[in-house]
Amino acid sequence: MSAHSRIPFVCGNWKLHHGREATGAQVRELVAGLPALRDRARIAVAPVVTCLAVAVEAAAGKLPIAAQNVHFAEKGAFTGEWSVGHLKELGVSYVIVGHSERRALFADNDETVAKKVRAVLDGGLLPIACIGETESQRENGKTKHVVTEEIEAILAAVRPDEADRLTLAYEPVWAIGTGKNASAQQAQEVHALIRSLLKKHFGTKAEVVCIQYGGSVKPDNVAILMAEPDVDGALVGGASLEAKSLLAIAQNAIR
Ligand code: 13P
Repeated sequence: MSAHSRIPFVCGNWKLHHGREATGAQVRELVAGLPALRDRARIAVAPVVTCLAVAVEAAAGKLPIAAQNVHFAEKGAFTGEWSVGHLKELGVSYVIVGHSERRALFADNDETVAKKVRAVLDGGLLPIACIGETESQRENGKTKHVVTEEIEAILAAVRPDEADRLTLAYEPVWAIGTGKNASAQQAQEVHALIRSLLKKHFGTKAEVVCIQYGGSVKPDNVAILMAEPDVDGALVGGASLEAKSLLAIAQNAIR
């Protein structure tokens, strides 16, 4: 499988934004825009957890819906959490795991991220596992080290026969919400490192894994990133809130 036979996969991360009404409206607009992509790019969207049911209904089976987080336990005394089983019940397809905001603000770490990835796979859903260095880690020359540690923790939780169910998202923390996206060369450098770690773990199956880039992706900068051999899609925050913009990103991601 060559890099360019991996179908571009763009996921909108709506973070703590749209409520029920806007979620339904934006999802319906996304669904209406899908035929124009002619199956040459895939889209998913991750609304606020309370809007997942509305999103699944509006998607009508045509657009996969993602959750932004999950707990790794099936049940128990975990006030405020939800499990993979609860997401499955709603008809959710993907789960974003280990986003840098969860790692920085809500105590996710390599150990809990690995447990969450395992729980998502065990429950039959699809993880989008996030990794990425902070600005000071990059400035101190620690990018390779940080990304390697984060990736190895995730891969230790995934069997080679599950490679095709895994999506990884490289999101340099300094590029998130700052308007300062990584250059195509900076992104490819890290994506190539990730691909080499995937090869070590999965062998030839490494080629089927989609590696998204995230951090200030917009309709006008996605094509240059996607031209790199190991950039297979995007995890998009701000520019995914309007369906038109997310559809334009998916369109421009087609190679
Ligand atoms: P922005 O696209 O707003 O920089 O956010 C990126 C992100 O965190 C997606 O998960």
